[in-house]
Amino acid sequence: MLKITVLVSGGGTNLQAVIDSINEGRIKDAKIVRVISNKEDAYALTRARNAGIKAVTVSRKAYDTKQDFEEALLKAIDEADTDLVVLAGFLVVLPTKLVESYENRIINIHPSLIPSFCGKGFYGLKVHEEALKRGVKVTGATVHFVDKGCDTGPIILQKAVSVEEGDTPEILQKRVMEQAEWKIMPEAIDLIARGKLEIKDGKVLKH
Ligand code: GAR
Repeated sequence: MLKITVLVSGGGTNLQAVIDSINEGRIKDAKIVRVISNKEDAYALTRARNAGIKAVTVSRKAYDTKQDFEEALLKAIDEADTDLVVLAGFLVVLPTKLVESYENRIINIHPSLIPSFCGKGFYGLKVHEEALKRGVKVTGATVHFVDKGCDTGPIILQKAVSVEEGDTPEILQKRVMEQAEWKIMPEAIDLIARGKLEIKDGKVLKH
């Protein structure tokens, strides 16, 4: 049984998609052991508690130094005996020590087709604003393993979504979530839980 810790900062719709997929059998052999938020008012925490999952806050504000915060975050993940860390809208740059301790065991969902509209400063609505500004006709979402770079790790799954005339960042964000994120995130977790993925030369192979 794959033990998952989900890290969140906001509304938690991707978390909800994972919870529902486990409950409805689309993800097999996995359970969420803990949800950690860096924001105490994140609605994702309520979603976790409603599903009977232990939910805790590890906020930068509660610690004097960045190092203390980072150690507390790592401790909260270790304590849950975590096999896989899932970043579901977690808007904190991950501590290097965490990335090293959980090498190839951290995945992230990003709301664009990487390598477009990703990297430093590209998160949440901002990604869709930039896609609309550039006038792309297709965007989408990507699930990838996390390495020490920003959105540079091996790509697991991607799904394309059309941009329509008259889209606002909010409308596009919703379409990308519904048509891509809420599907490929659970699918990637299921593949990992069933041992179907291998990383070779920086690329993900599916068996
Ligand atoms: C999602 O759109 C996710 O792709 C994005 O934040 C949103 C969180 O929504 N993540 C990033 O931009 C990471 N760079 P949610 O809290 O409803 O799942």
